[in-house]
Amino acid sequence: MPVTVTDLRTWKAAGRRFPMLTAYDHPTAQILDEAGIPVLLVGDSVANNVLGYETTLPVTMEEMLHHTRAVSRGTTNAMVVGDMPFLSYQVSIEEGIRNAGRFLKEGGAHAVKLEGAMVELTEALSSRGIPVMAHIGLTPQSVHAMGGYRVQGRGEQAARILDEAMALEKAGAFSIVLEGIPMELGREITATLQIPTIGIGAGPHCDGQVLVITDLLGLGAGRYPKFAKPYANLRAQISEAVQAFARDVEAGTFPDEEHSYT
Ligand code: KIV
Repeated sequence: MPVTVTDLRTWKAAGRRFPMLTAYDHPTAQILDEAGIPVLLVGDSVANNVLGYETTLPVTMEEMLHHTRAVSRGTTNAMVVGDMPFLSYQVSIEEGIRNAGRFLKEGGAHAVKLEGAMVELTEALSSRGIPVMAHIGLTPQSVHAMGGYRVQGRGEQAARILDEAMALEKAGAFSIVLEGIPMELGREITATLQIPTIGIGAGPHCDGQVLVITDLLGLGAGRYPKFAKPYANLRAQISEAVQAFARDVEAGTFPDEEHSYT
């Protein structure tokens, strides 16, 4: 049985911290699952990290389901969370329920994630057996409304974000991602809620921490956000490997006998 919403609640009560990572494809999901990462998020960040879009806004339900299926097929122990893309849940409760259901029914996900204070929809999904991971603070689908990727919850905004967190917990969310907020607010929300908080740029006091896998592996071409820590430099390693292959081909040293049939 994969990690469940009950496990996460138990970990929170026991003060056990946990990691979450984004995964977008089958081999990465297998590696993360085997490494014991308990929660894999098929993030809509697939849009700007894998599919070459500028923002997360263009990614579609069909694209998200395609990646969610690949991740689900590569996972045995981890909980798989499908990230609902822009406009798949904002138009009406009915459309939100139908699209969320598709992540479980067609994508093999165990839960969905929604950005923003979608209190009514969270209640509707939770009461229909669709577990909801909420996501507040810096919500990338609202990049244009926020005027860019800006830290949220400074000064007077803090009380509003705390209120949103409490309302989402009350509505039935089983966990909540806190993105791009001051660490003091991350600590206050974490201390207030019974459900686990999962931080990304929300300081060290959250119950869990999430990173985008391409940031963690150092696959990105540009600058990394302040909160992202590259634990490897795979971009350089991949470049070295393919250049070594190209040199061997040009020199006629690949394939050698070992890699040829008689
Ligand atoms: O899509 C994503 O990668 C996310 C994380 C940043 C939480 O929503």
